[in-house]
Amino acid sequence: MFTNDTLEGRAALITGGGSGIGLEIATAYARLGASVMLVGRNEERVQAAASAIVAEGGRALALKADVRNYDEVKAAVDATVEGFGSLDILVNNAAGNFVCPTADLSPRGWQTVIDIDLNGTFYGCHAAYSHLKESRYGGSIISIITMLGVSGWPQAAHAAAAKGGILSLSRTLAVEWGGDNIRVNTISPGPIGDTEGVQRMYIEGGRGELEQKKTALGRFGKKEDIANAAVYLASSLGAYVTGENLIVDGGRWLKYVAA
Ligand code: COA
Repeated sequence: MFTNDTLEGRAALITGGGSGIGLEIATAYARLGASVMLVGRNEERVQAAASAIVAEGGRALALKADVRNYDEVKAAVDATVEGFGSLDILVNNAAGNFVCPTADLSPRGWQTVIDIDLNGTFYGCHAAYSHLKESRYGGSIISIITMLGVSGWPQAAHAAAAKGGILSLSRTLAVEWGGDNIRVNTISPGPIGDTEGVQRMYIEGGRGELEQKKTALGRFGKKEDIANAAVYLASSLGAYVTGENLIVDGGRWLKYVAA
């Protein structure tokens, strides 16, 4: 277990922080001493999430922003620094996805997912850079991707290309910004059972059992498995880790390769 001061003194901005994996990460960060800014498209949702964190004794703020809009992302970064005095951790978690055969995917459908996932991540990194450089703990960027961005993702070409792009961007920035003491890593979750995405894409479609069998461990992960990885990478425990893609997928990727 992490100690309660693992992230003491740090300020974190989490995109898509109002629900799912983003909220789980924000809640874990707050419990371990960080101040958190939750950013999302749905104002009510991010405000309610921040209030819940505050109600249990954490420090949290919320702001409505669409990661497709650079000015809104920049405003969220500035509000974090204004509210908490620094920005030490950026979690690029906001994502959009839908299943669609590529031949039927409209250019605007493609563009929409690339804008949210890949461009949104670039906007976050770019807007946060000057503040992360000033972090007294060393800045940390964590982007949530998936190994389906490496293997290819039939019926989700837009998300596959975007996630693969984020991996490449992260490795590039790890080297470019290493000298500024900014660490840049990605996390690749496998199927996380208690998320809207897995509910919608697998369980409601009757593929729940099949998708669990695809993992080496034979079961879905939990949101807290991803939050634990995000705590490790953001904290001093991961101080010498950069350019890494931490795969937290119950061995799904390895089982796929070994088959
Ligand atoms: N199949 C095919 N095309 C689709 C689609 C689907 N299921 N959903 C959206 N699109 C297309 C739209 O048709 C539109 O293209 P068009 O103008 O050529 O018709 C384009 O994508 C933009 O759609 P729109 O609904 O205007 O975008 P949005 O910004 O409101 O929504 C999405 C963003 C597309 C990512 C939407 O799926 C969404 O909000 N999903 C919920 C959040 C989510 O995906 N979370 C990730 C969990 S893993």
